[in-house]
Amino acid sequence: MSTRIPLSSSQPKTVIIGAGAIGLAIAWRLAQAGCEVSLYDRREAGRGASWASAGMLAAAAETEPGEERLLALNLESQRLWPDFARELEAASGVALGYRDEGTIEVALNRDDAERLRFTYEFQKGLGLDLRWLSGAEARDLEPHLRPGIAGAVFSPTDHQVENRLLVQALLEGVRRAGARLYEGCAVREVDIAEGSARGVVSDRGRESADVVILAAGAWSREIGGIPSAYLPAVRPIKGQMLALKMDPAAPLLRHVLWVPRGYLAPRLDGRLLVGATVEERGFDESLTAGGMLALIEGAWRALPAIEELPIAETWVGFRPGSRDDAPMLGPSGIDRLVIATGHFRNGILLCPLTAEAIAQFVLKGRLPEIAREFSAERFLPVPPAAATK
Ligand code: GLY
Repeated sequence: MSTRIPLSSSQPKTVIIGAGAIGLAIAWRLAQAGCEVSLYDRREAGRGASWASAGMLAAAAETEPGEERLLALNLESQRLWPDFARELEAASGVALGYRDEGTIEVALNRDDAERLRFTYEFQKGLGLDLRWLSGAEARDLEPHLRPGIAGAVFSPTDHQVENRLLVQALLEGVRRAGARLYEGCAVREVDIAEGSARGVVSDRGRESADVVILAAGAWSREIGGIPSAYLPAVRPIKGQMLALKMDPAAPLLRHVLWVPRGYLAPRLDGRLLVGATVEERGFDESLTAGGMLALIEGAWRALPAIEELPIAETWVGFRPGSRDDAPMLGPSGIDRLVIATGHFRNGILLCPLTAEAIAQFVLKGRLPEIAREFSAERFLPVPPAAATK
């Protein structure tokens, strides 16, 4: 199976549906390559999962058993991140708040320590750069950790970026590179004729294109015109989060901190993000007492000094979950329709790699080797030709 794209044009005119970090980064790369790019978002650009995220670039800490194939993709994107950040900062004039102190995972009691040791052995076995720390060593790195920590793991390569600044930088980069952005403008349908995408129909009318890229995150199935068998198999995975307000001159934390059921990400401006629930509730936007309680209690058990901190913000986001928790990239099974969604917990991490891979697919007709097994076609139930008849 393959999705043909118009190799007759070396700079295909491209429409991108979804102006989150993924859509914006793809738009930036294609506009840099000289393509005419239009980008549509049903709301304000970058206000979906890209806004809600914690910006963790956690290829190592977030690797779970069963995700060994995805790890290679995550590690490659993690490797790309520092150069991507530098290039984007230079192109946009916006600093991304990239922080490279690393990540610490803590075990609060013996049970946690057993579990953490098991995960650590598994992750070490995959060749990841991780170091086991005693409780005292962890407290040397983060003095506000509760006394009596049972053990910890330090991951020096798991960095973080301020995802909301990433969105701002990408918006500026995209604008300077000459792409057009239509915000508050829903794409109603992809115009498909004879098994090939021809453009989109949006609130502002019809726009033709050589290539249409569907990068609408958890909302990617809400676009009309695409036969249901070809809609990417994504669903929203709800995450509740909150931000506390630290004194930026005397922060309680410098590293990203994973606690047994959540994480804390300290920002340079003093915000301390606490996340996140993982819930299967469709697009339910409600914050719940139970969700907030679990987050605050989990954070407080590791870092009791948060007790006095004001709550700055609470929010809900929707990760685009796929059937195997890995992204869907490239060919959709329909000519000229390209997919870039399903990044689940790794959207910000996978942003540089996704942008490069999709740009390469659009410009050269092939995904890079490392991305091929994440082709969106892996979920197609029937051969494309049979389904479009
Ligand atoms: N990557 C963090 C989260 O999905 O909550």
